[in-house]
Amino acid sequence: MTILVTGARGNVGRRVLQRLYAAGHSLRASGRNPAELDVPEGVETVALDLNDPETFVAALAGVSKVLLYAEPEGINAFLDVADKAGVEHIVLLSSDTLYLDDVESDPLAHHHKIVEDALISSGLPYTILRPGAFCTNAFLWSHALKAGDTIDQVFAESQVAPIHEDDIADVAVVALTEKTLENEILHLTGPESLTFRRELEIIGEVLGRDIVVNDLTREEGHAAMSPFVEADILRSLLNQWETGVGVTAVTSATAERITGKPARTFREWAEEYAQYLVA
Ligand SMILES: NC(=O)c1ccc[n+]([C@@H]2O[C@H](COP(=O)([O-])OP(=O)(O)OC[C@H]3O[C@@H](n4cnc5c(N)ncnc54)[C@H](OP(=O)(O)O)[C@@H]3O)[C@@H](O)[C@H]2O)c1
Repeated sequence: MTILVTGARGNVGRRVLQRLYAAGHSLRASGRNPAELDVPEGVETVALDLNDPETFVAALAGVSKVLLYAEPEGINAFLDVADKAGVEHIVLLSSDTLYLDDVESDPLAHHHKIVEDALISSGLPYTILRPGAFCTNAFLWSHALKAGDTIDQVFAESQVAPIHEDDIADVAVVALTEKTLENEILHLTGPESLTFRRELEIIGEVLGRDIVVNDLTREEGHAAMSPFVEADILRSLLNQWETGVGVTAVTSATAERITGKPARTFREWAEEYAQYLVA
């Protein structure tokens, strides 16, 4: 009964792997380059590129459950091989962009929808995790925080309910190890709505620094981010952030209901990780 953890190098996959390992499960960790994986002693590693069906058979042989990252290109072939291999349950890391009004035209939402639709229609038992913004997105400020105390942020008054990746991982582990969440779609958020400005203030408080936030217009934000972010993704992000200006972000109690613990706050995340933003 081996559990395959895709994205084993990722923020969520890494945490899921650690938790399952501590609980004594038989594990296989995958990455496009398995040599880059840093896994606990005794965990098998395998090459898996979710866009390359040639890698699927070896990765899925003998697997009963999968933590799956959302990559649309090879999804139908992946599910077909998973079914033939006898996989009993797939837990998909999707996205709350599926709750947007314009799912078909929004590139990020559409990306995840293709994978969700394929999984649901495959007939394989599933659990779909739809998290909102991750706390770890704060690493996007790392470069600026190392350079000084003034941080440029497009739509600084936009609100999100950042979720700690430990909470996503805790929910994923319940889904992978118990039958209770079969064929459920779970909206996962952090416990509170915060503006980007407030997130940066909290990071400043934790680091003992006075952070000044410079609110950029859409055009300024686009110019600043377009060298680093693919055009389609950037359009989607700017649209979401613009819509979130002055609007309290939706919070969901689902993570707390499933884990039995209050969802971790952004301040808790910052107390743990802010030091690494400037390291
Ligand atoms: N950040 C957010 O605010 C947010 C919000 C909602 C949903 N999400 C979802 O969460 C995902 C990011 O999760 P994360 O932060 O844990 O990941 P991450 O730290 O950004 O790492 C990305 C992972 O995806 C794997 N990956 C990428 N392309 C792959 C492919 N073709 N085949 C196999 N694996 C592939 C990478 O594996 P290797 O490089 O080792 O192959 C890596 O482990 C997003 O892509 C999105 O689906 C994110």
